[in-house]
Amino acid sequence: MTITSLSWLEIDAAALRQNIEAIRANLSPGCLMVPVVKANAYGHGYLEIGKLLDKQGFPFLAVHNLEEAILLREGGIENDILIMGYIPLADLRAAVAAGFDLVVYNLESLKKLVAVATAKQPARCHLKLETGTQRQGITEERLPEFLKEFQESSQLMLRGVSSHFANIEDTTDHSYAQLQMERFGRMKDQVIASGFAVPYYHIASSAASLLFPETHFHLARVGIALYGLWPSKETYLSYRLAGKENQILKPVLTWKSLLGQIKDVRRGEYVGYGTTYRATADMKLGVVPIGYFDGYDRLLSNRGYCLVNGRRAPIRGRICMNLFMIDVTDIPDVRLENTVVLIGESGDEIIRAEDLAEWANTINYEIVTRIGAHLKRIVTNP
Ligand SMILES: Cc1ncc(COP(=O)(O)O)c(C=O)c1O
Repeated sequence: MTITSLSWLEIDAAALRQNIEAIRANLSPGCLMVPVVKANAYGHGYLEIGKLLDKQGFPFLAVHNLEEAILLREGGIENDILIMGYIPLADLRAAVAAGFDLVVYNLESLKKLVAVATAKQPARCHLKLETGTQRQGITEERLPEFLKEFQESSQLMLRGVSSHFANIEDTTDHSYAQLQMERFGRMKDQVIASGFAVPYYHIASSAASLLFPETHFHLARVGIALYGLWPSKETYLSYRLAGKENQILKPVLTWKSLLGQIKDVRRGEYVGYGTTYRATADMKLGVVPIGYFDGYDRLLSNRGYCLVNGRRAPIRGRICMNLFMIDVTDIPDVRLENTVVLIGESGDEIIRAEDLAEWANTINYEIVTRIGAHLKRIVTNP
């Protein structure tokens, strides 16, 4: 039985292709793009995006955990996969057997990999170096211990050496990124001096891919830009200040719902939980049948807007678990089941993930990754 969804996402495959082309055009020769598809492909859908990217010349698709890697594989994705986050010791055998590339930064993990891998099916490892994020990573002092394991164990294959920038998106001052690059360079020299010919050095994410050719090395792990979103205003500004071209990225995702009720509300009546909005005049209210359960942030209460028939409709009252209300008084010819655009275009109007982020006091990354995984994703322009 086909039923009508209360809310759905449209995933524009043509925009995705355009972004890939634009990002690739920014990368230095010899640097390959690794699409980051963790966190439900930044909310766009693991398999919807995975299928569009599979076997398109990407050395890896990057995910956070083993579950995501298995989900992609079981969903028919054949591309090599790089797991960037922690893999519990008990699961390392399965990760090796599946042939995934693994980012490693614990000696315990490495020793376990020696035990569960074989010379015939070695563990495909990418060392993660600590250059200043203090998140995952091996310090300069401890790097020799890790390299020794690789020298002594045919069960381990050193496929990559990586790191991650801490302060590249949030600022136009890139001195901290430069410091991280210096540390990365020193540790890279250490790896080379220990006799390793590593095929993949990688440190760049979206911002570095767009701004700094010197960070490109062999791979660029690109997440947010792939989906047509800028990592931050500062990244966009730095890009423009470098004299580069505007408008290279196109948002891939549109998020929609519909009007589930239209009602007349009298002046002086309160709207929603907590009676946080009071009608200052007689008004027409539209009820949208999704809420914070679906990833529509409660901080948008009384702050955000949606689009109906090409016009902005302000949110009135609090976002509920499965519903919220908007003012449709000034929307001409408004009808039950009119489309409500939460992110995207309608007529001449547009609401971006960045707008929601500003209203909800967060970043575009959080807005898109938290869109409910249960909502249907429809691929357009395949
Ligand atoms: C290790 C790592 N590499 C790459 C990325 C992609 O970053 P971005 O979405 O800014 O391109 C992330 C995202 O959080 C990450 O954690």
